[in-house]
Amino acid sequence: MRRSLNLIFLGPPGAGKGTYAARMAEKHSIPQISTGSLMRSEISSGSSIGVELNSYISEGKLVPDDLTVKMLLKRLECDDCKKGYILDGFPRTLGQAETFEEKLKESGNPLSAVVVIEVDDQVLINRLADRRVCSGCGATFHLKNLPPKVEGKCDLCTAPLTKRKDDSPEVIKERLKVYHDLTEPLIDFYKKRGKVLFFDGDGKIDVIYNEICAIIDRLMSV
Ligand code: AP5
Ligand code: MG
Repeated sequence: MRRSLNLIFLGPPGAGKGTYAARMAEKHSIPQISTGSLMRSEISSGSSIGVELNSYISEGKLVPDDLTVKMLLKRLECDDCKKGYILDGFPRTLGQAETFEEKLKESGNPLSAVVVIEVDDQVLINRLADRRVCSGCGATFHLKNLPPKVEGKCDLCTAPLTKRKDDSPEVIKERLKVYHDLTEPLIDFYKKRGKVLFFDGDGKIDVIYNEICAIIDRLMSV
């Protein structure tokens, strides 16, 4: 039986985690699991948990580990994760990484690799100002680098494109700070476990995606 492809995509806000994870998930027919997207869906549902989540996300702070891990583990129990998954934006703290490592040990289904996408802060600040997200299916576009075919409309489902609320300059600054303080240390955590693959995320989207695919294909063929 083919080994399952279990990936983590790690990187600062705007690095391209979602862009590459979505394409790779489609290529391998495995789900892209973005904790940010799960949380935004919960917020849209108007639930009391959604109200709590919004109080953190709107300020660029991390959602507490217990709540985040609970949501993630529930999603991983779904049948579509049996062949593998791409975690986009999880884990983000050492606490989340340690809890997840315990769960992986229990499942006997190890992590394949951690894809780290590196981009300078100033590039990210400029980049996120022009990101647009589909209000229907969540697909991501960029006004200059990945424009939709029809202005303001999603290529996939034609729903209107919107700006994410946490893509304001002040919140982006806070998200970058949180990344450097709490999430970047995970690179060392996974380096010690020999799992990290580094990619320069400042370049053409298609070129970077093909580089990631080539390395992952090689990894899965040995
Ligand atoms: P989340 O939704 O995960 O946001 P993020 O980590 O801040 O990352 P982004 O989604 O902003 O960026 P991305 O790397 O996916 O980039 P994208 O592909 O869109 O989390 C949001 C919030 O939820 C957090 O702040 C936190 O509050 C909470 N949260 C989520 N997970 C959590 C967790 N585990 N624990 C606690 N709290 C959690 O690309 C960005 C733009 O750039 C797009 O427009 C794209 O088209 C463009 N682009 C991509 N690549 C390139 C390129 N090479 N060149 C030019 N443009 C490019
Ligand atoms: Mg994303």
